[in-house]
Amino acid sequence: MIKGKTSSDEPGERPSALDHGNPAGIQVLPVPGLPEFRPGDDVATALVAAAPWLADGDVVVITSKVFSKVEGRLVPAPTDPEERDALRRRLVDGETERVVARRGRTTIVAGKLGVVQAAAGVDGSNVRADELALLPADPDASAARLRADLARLAGVDVAVVVTDTMGRAWRVGQIDLAIGAAGLAVLHGYAGQHDAQGNELVVTEIAVADELAAAADLVKGKLGGTPVAVVRGLAPVDDGSSARDLVRPIEGDMFRLGTDEALAEGRREAVLLRRSTRDFTDEPVDVDVVRRAVAVALTAPAPHHSTPIRFGLVREKRTALLDAMAVRWQEHLEADGRPADEVARRMRRGDLLRRAPELVLAFRTGDGMHVYRDEARRLGERTMFTVAGGAAVQSLLIALAAEGLASCWVGSTIFAADVVRDVLDLPADWQPLGAIAVGHPVQPLAPRAPRDPEGAFLQW
Ligand SMILES: Cc1cc2nc3c(=O)[nH]c(=O)nc-3n(C[C@H](O)[C@H](O)[C@H](O)COP(=O)(O)O)c2cc1C
Repeated sequence: MIKGKTSSDEPGERPSALDHGNPAGIQVLPVPGLPEFRPGDDVATALVAAAPWLADGDVVVITSKVFSKVEGRLVPAPTDPEERDALRRRLVDGETERVVARRGRTTIVAGKLGVVQAAAGVDGSNVRADELALLPADPDASAARLRADLARLAGVDVAVVVTDTMGRAWRVGQIDLAIGAAGLAVLHGYAGQHDAQGNELVVTEIAVADELAAAADLVKGKLGGTPVAVVRGLAPVDDGSSARDLVRPIEGDMFRLGTDEALAEGRREAVLLRRSTRDFTDEPVDVDVVRRAVAVALTAPAPHHSTPIRFGLVREKRTALLDAMAVRWQEHLEADGRPADEVARRMRRGDLLRRAPELVLAFRTGDGMHVYRDEARRLGERTMFTVAGGAAVQSLLIALAAEGLASCWVGSTIFAADVVRDVLDLPADWQPLGAIAVGHPVQPLAPRAPRDPEGAFLQW
């Protein structure tokens, strides 16, 4: 219930500190007669003159534009619409911490205060035609200063909410919300309390400062030059919180990016999620997930519209295969004249393929290969099909990463091709392309930064 100011109104007290609302009603009082603020003006002095009736427990709700003006956050701007727009865009860029969404000329960003809104709050309304306003640099500090100044000048203990007008992602229309606050609990949590029907409230947490901002806007309006209203009747309690506490931490933000941007970011991140992982948890791998990743991998490009790549899970035969490959590897190392201790050390490195929860073998078959008379072209054809296998394996690793699975591509089957074919009873033209250890990562996969292309990206 919102009432106008009447002569009988006395500053009210909330009947119960357990409820954020006051069923006895609140008042929202305009503060008319404030001057047009300019840089350096003292807001508290003007407010005490215009509202000598301010009382303990009142909440002073003030448009952030007032602080933008007095705190020197006005930027001289050209009046030519195009030039003004160009400057506005530059200012938005400067105020932007993170772009959340873009559509046409609209940019939704998280600004330096963490608040997500259009154009980072850079605004040309209620300022002169040759100026643009940036949000106050620290509206919580502006609120705390005004609160202290009012206590000093008028001896009143009031709370202060600094507001800005913004849209909401899922609702049409804009409302005023709190971007600065001092002297009140900005959130009122109900966890553990019971409603009138005896239901326990679990998640309800009311953004009281935002409700105050929106309520006050119903009195301030946008056209009448009334930048301040006072909410009376809530008697807020100062719990040291500020409007910063209303910004959802990024870890809990399910809508960190707009939908289009999330898709684009997701596409970029999928490739960067893959890295060679050699430690896995004991959690079993869902074979259906591997099958899904293989289906994706098979879309990799291949010559002559062929499908020359095969992936196989090796399970019962894994130990037999690795034992046979180990014998071949040991022969290779000994033939190289390696000392026995080095041979033993290097053989132990093969443990990864025994430890991994699942092992996928990749092969290039001869399917679709052209037959040439000369050796040079035969070699070229084989190379062409082998690189196609590489593309498919990389696609598999990325698809696994996109499913949250870690992997490591290990080349040893390439060096024991006939052993692999023997143990698994495969055709002679199947060329092993390595084994892929697959499992759940110990730490969730996180995208890494792309490499610096300098030196590897050439232009002729
Ligand atoms: C064809 C191929 C064979 C590989 N063989 C092995 C291997 O035998 N053992 C191993 O631990 N890693 C192997 N790797 C993984 C590389 O060591 C790894 O990709 C490289 O260190 C870069 O790390 P990253 O994959 O995390 O970017 C192989 C990678 C490729 C592409």
